[in-house]
This record gives sequence, C-alpha cells and structure tokens, in this order.
Amino acid sequence: MANVMDKLVSLCKRRGFIFQSSEVYGGLNGCWDYGPLGVELLRNIKDTWWKAMTYREDVEGLDASILMHPRVWEASGHVDNFTDPLIDCKNCKARFRDDTLTEAQRSAGQCPVCGNKGVLTEPRAFNLMFKTFVGPVEEDNSRVYLRPETAQGIYVNFLNVQAAMRQKLPFGIAQIGKAFRNEINTKNFLFRTREFEQMEMQFFVKPGTENHWFDYWRQERWQWFSQIGLPEKRLRLREHEKLAHYARAAFDVEYEFPFGWGEIEGLHNRGDFDLGQHEKFSGKALRYFDEESREKILPFVIETSIGASRTTMACLVEAYREEEVEGETRVVMRFHPRIAPLKAAILPLVRRDGMDELARQITTQLRSHFPVFYDEGGAIGRRYRRMDEIGTPYCVTVDSQTLQDQTVTVRERDSMAQDRVPIAQLREEITRRMETWTMPPD
Ligand code: GAP
Repeated sequence: MANVMDKLVSLCKRRGFIFQSSEVYGGLNGCWDYGPLGVELLRNIKDTWWKAMTYREDVEGLDASILMHPRVWEASGHVDNFTDPLIDCKNCKARFRDDTLTEAQRSAGQCPVCGNKGVLTEPRAFNLMFKTFVGPVEEDNSRVYLRPETAQGIYVNFLNVQAAMRQKLPFGIAQIGKAFRNEINTKNFLFRTREFEQMEMQFFVKPGTENHWFDYWRQERWQWFSQIGLPEKRLRLREHEKLAHYARAAFDVEYEFPFGWGEIEGLHNRGDFDLGQHEKFSGKALRYFDEESREKILPFVIETSIGASRTTMACLVEAYREEEVEGETRVVMRFHPRIAPLKAAILPLVRRDGMDELARQITTQLRSHFPVFYDEGGAIGRRYRRMDEIGTPYCVTVDSQTLQDQTVTVRERDSMAQDRVPIAQLREEITRRMETWTMPPD
C-alpha cells in the first residue's frame, strides 16, 4: 500500500499537481506547492464546498486576515493549550512527539531513530503556533501568530456579520483560508503539513437547540463527500471520547488512506466557549439581541472544520487506479468530473487536412465554458493515456469523418467507450455527461 503513495507522489510531481516547496534548495519540510493541475483540483474542491455551505440563506461568507490581535490566541486557549509533547534524543538529536513512541520505547528511554537506550529527554510542551513580529522591532509586545485555524476570525466577526447581513439565529459564517501549525513531525505527503488550508463553518444557535443542529450538520456534511467523488464505503464517522478544551461533543469524518484511517473533517459542539472567552478577554459584549424574547443571548456554536489540502489528498488517493488494458498498464485518475482539473482534451487525429485547425476552433469554443486542453503531439493512443493519467474525463477527437459530417468522437475516460457527437451539440453533451456521471465500480 505504501507503494501506492510513492507512485502518487511521483505522478503528482511529473504531471504538475504537487511539487515540493523550494525544491531547488533541497525542499522545506511540511510545505508543498500546487502546480497547474493541482491548483485547479484544489480550487474545484474549495468551490464545491463554498457552494454547498454558503449558497443558502442561513450561512454568510467571510475572509478574515491571517494575522490577528495576539489576545485572540490567549482567549481561544491556543497560547496555553495548543501544544504537543516534544521529546529529544540526546544522542542523535532526533525530535518526535511523545505519543508516537511505543510503551517499550518510552519506558526504556529508547530512541526510535538511533536505537540507543536511556537517551530520551522528558516530554516538554511545545506550542505549535508560528510566531512573527508586527513592525520593525522584534520584541515581545510586537509578537503575533500565524493563525493555526481560521475559526477565530469568524468568532471575532460574529456581530459584524450578523448586523451587516441582518441575520437571525440560527445562522452560520463560513471561511476558506490558510492555517499554519509548526508540527513536530510532518508526514504522509499532504496529510500533515505545516502550512495548509481549512474550510470552516461556525453555526450560531440558541442554547438548547445545539443537539438538533449538531445532528443536522453531521448529516449535511456526511452527504457532501459524494459531490467530490469520495464514496461512503471509504469514509466513517468516529465519535471522540477525549474532548478538546473547547468541545462538548466531537465527531471526525475519516477517510481510509493507504496508510490507514485518517481524519479529514472535525465536527464540534463548542457550546458558548469561544464567544464567552472573547467577551471576557476583549471586554466587549458579543451577544445577540433576540427580538422575540427581548433577551441578549450568547449563542452556542456548532463547527464543521475540514482541511482543503487533506481532502485534496483523499481525492488524489481515491482517484488513482492501475488497470490492465490490452496487455499494458493504464494509470487513470478517476476524479469526479466536477473536480477534474481539465474537463476535456481536443485531439486532431493527424495534423493535416484542416483537422488541427478545426480542433483548435473547437478548443476555443469550449474553453469559454470550462478548462480544456489541445494536444496534437504523438499517437492518439498515447495522447489518450496522458489524459487518463491526469483524470481528464472526456477526449474529443477530430478525424477525417469530422470533415465530412461535422461530428467528433467522444471517448470516456472510465469506460474508454467512444461514440460520435455533432460539434454543434458538443458543449451540451459534455456538460450533460459531467452532470450525470456516476462512480464506476472499484
Ligand atoms: N477549528 C477546529 C480545528 O482546527 P482541527 O481538527 O485541528 O480542528 C481541522 O483541524 C481540520 O484541518 C482537520 O480535520 C484536517 O483536515 C485539517 N488539518 C489540521 N491540521 C493539519 C495539518 N497539519 N496538515 C493538514 N491538514 C490539517
């Protein structure tokens, strides 16, 4: 299974999905760059989430800044609690989280890297927030943090958004943005990185209704994954027994990665912890005035928090297939067409008799509706395979018959079936096929 990850990382680099950050300098651990196809894939996943979460009456969008007042992180509990237990090896200087050690290694003080015994330090709390300074002087009172989650930008804007949009409880605020965590050990490609993107929604409700809304959002979120091609059979909901300092109840949505089950989304009932803390630390009331009861209410919060980068990785893993076709291995990325970086490739069978010119015209027409790719180089079979490998759902071929009857062949990525479609109906036909696409069996 680990082999699949190696192949995927290599495909991602070769075909322009994901590159190691600062590769020419030897790379920067835990940071990745999205190449031309990766950025489309990520964007399509974020768009699907944004539409599902904000194209409704009771959720508003927000884009808060990454740097926030440092008191925010005292109020949220991150300054005191956002730590991992860090252990050092006094011999080989390796560093790791205490919870990655086995019981035997811990009791013998045995380093998992160099194998020596009695060489480990006691665990110490290591805060995961990245620190920097505002202004030219690097001193304690100019210290700020790169946000470790987007949620706090939503809480501190709760009343701004409510008043500006004249929202009534219950309503939510959604945001997509970068988050930073100085993870002790990064691992598994995009799974645990130091810079990543989150898609978070905080839903503000009247106290007493939180259980209803927690169930509601758990169902909504569970159903969403099929929209990006993640099937239920490789997802599970796991309830937390040990709760974070802010949570009253928590579920994770986990995906079955090649290295095991891993969280991709967290759902939390946060009670009135966050708004209450920001009231206390800022000295400003963050209460909602309820017209009906004429009372000021401190709402409870239901949070849905999903990693955009981690979800991108789940979609890459889910899509990757190797198939035997006519004695050769075909690598195909079976993305849901909604998230596929390119929707179609336009291929002249040969570069003469006006086939290339007509193929270019079709490319220009389609490009104003969705991303397409023109490719005239190499044998047609090789061109199909190149498109399979990056998950392009449809290949449109212009051949000699096209010049006679203005039809092209449309080849489907998953079944490899081909049929003829009039050029005049090509856009509608591709759109129809994308909208009615269903996941092929494993
Ligand atoms: N506001 C709540 C919160 O941040 P979290 O469980 O710490 O909760 C939510 O993070 C999601 O963010 C996770 O489910 C995961 O998808 C993503 N995430 C967290 N840490 C990450 C990391 N180091 N690298 C990539 N994604 C990460």
